[in-house]
Amino acid sequence: MANILQWFPHTTAPFIANAPMFGFADVSLATAATKAGGLGFIGGGFDFRTESTQLQGLDTQLANARSILCLTDDQPLPLGVGFITFQPGGFIDNAIPVLRKHRVAAVWLSFPQADADHLPIIQAIRKAQRGDWDIKIFVQVGTVKAAEEALQQGVDVLVAQGADAGGHQWAQGASLISLLPEVRDLLSKARNKTTAILAAGGIVDGRGCVAALGLGADGVVMGTRFVATSECPAPSTIKQTIVSASDGGVSTIKSIRHDVFQSTDVFPRQYDGRAIIGVNYEDSREGVSDEEIIRRYNEAKEAGEHQRRTVWAGASIGSINAVVSVEHVIRSTQQEAKVILERLKAGY
Ligand SMILES: Cc1cc2nc3c(=O)[nH]c(=O)nc-3n(C[C@H](O)[C@H](O)[C@H](O)COP(=O)(O)O)c2cc1C
Repeated sequence: MANILQWFPHTTAPFIANAPMFGFADVSLATAATKAGGLGFIGGGFDFRTESTQLQGLDTQLANARSILCLTDDQPLPLGVGFITFQPGGFIDNAIPVLRKHRVAAVWLSFPQADADHLPIIQAIRKAQRGDWDIKIFVQVGTVKAAEEALQQGVDVLVAQGADAGGHQWAQGASLISLLPEVRDLLSKARNKTTAILAAGGIVDGRGCVAALGLGADGVVMGTRFVATSECPAPSTIKQTIVSASDGGVSTIKSIRHDVFQSTDVFPRQYDGRAIIGVNYEDSREGVSDEEIIRRYNEAKEAGEHQRRTVWAGASIGSINAVVSVEHVIRSTQQEAKVILERLKAGY
């Protein structure tokens, strides 16, 4: 199996990355993850046009990361950036130069219109890699077919995303317990020992981490767990909604409706998203029209209220019980995983 810890020498076992949640995983969250021995990711967005304010913001955040981590200009940045790629125009000309300028350690691609769209991007990143810049390419996949395609494209890391995940994901896909072993078997059959696999979707503590390792992952990614941290820029009402929810199979739902209600329905149809069943969703169940829900959503937004905002969250939400620091999430997950692994080794 590939040793992902060696690729990122500051990381500690078991390997943990925060998901590059656009608007949630900012420089503060990502640098805290890296400092704690994880791999921090900043959500870089989906707009790669020349005038993209998302790329301008990313550029500023990466410069800040260098100073927060006390790195000199000649040191690489032990952080990754995630991009949503369903509108890939401009990526090669405008996003890659930002990554190269700051010499980020990893890039994460998710949600293409077609899997094949990643190939020119991956080829361009490989070409841009010079002697003083080593970047690992992560691609998030929610099906075995998408994993096969990404492998053929020569990615370094497959992030297997199961259907328990919070946020956007494959509309039709299995949970990690089915997906991960099949993705691991793909690598085994190809005698591939260079590509790493990370597990994403419903992991919030050491128990989920050990389960993922057992299913064939080299490390884990957590998204929702990191939203409920002190470093995450999300409003406290959203963090409290996550902390107070339980029984995620019932309190969250996978649907495109969450995007419809807040007029963000821009993802290709092979994707939907898991979020908490909130006021908008309840209104819809009671027969309120989409137009009226959108109107109510906009009204609340203009009034600065968050109660109608979609709270993207995974199905393991019931095991997130407090807002804690990023460092606490990483250290306690690693510690708990080690205790469980010792117990399993001892046979009880
Ligand atoms: C609030 C939120 C925002 C997300 N935004 C993104 C994103 O911008 N890009 C992306 O690739 N994945 C995004 N995801 C999905 C994550 O990459 C990951 O698959 C997911 O968080 C894993 O499941 P978990 O939330 O149960 O840990 C997001 C997830 C959440 C919860």
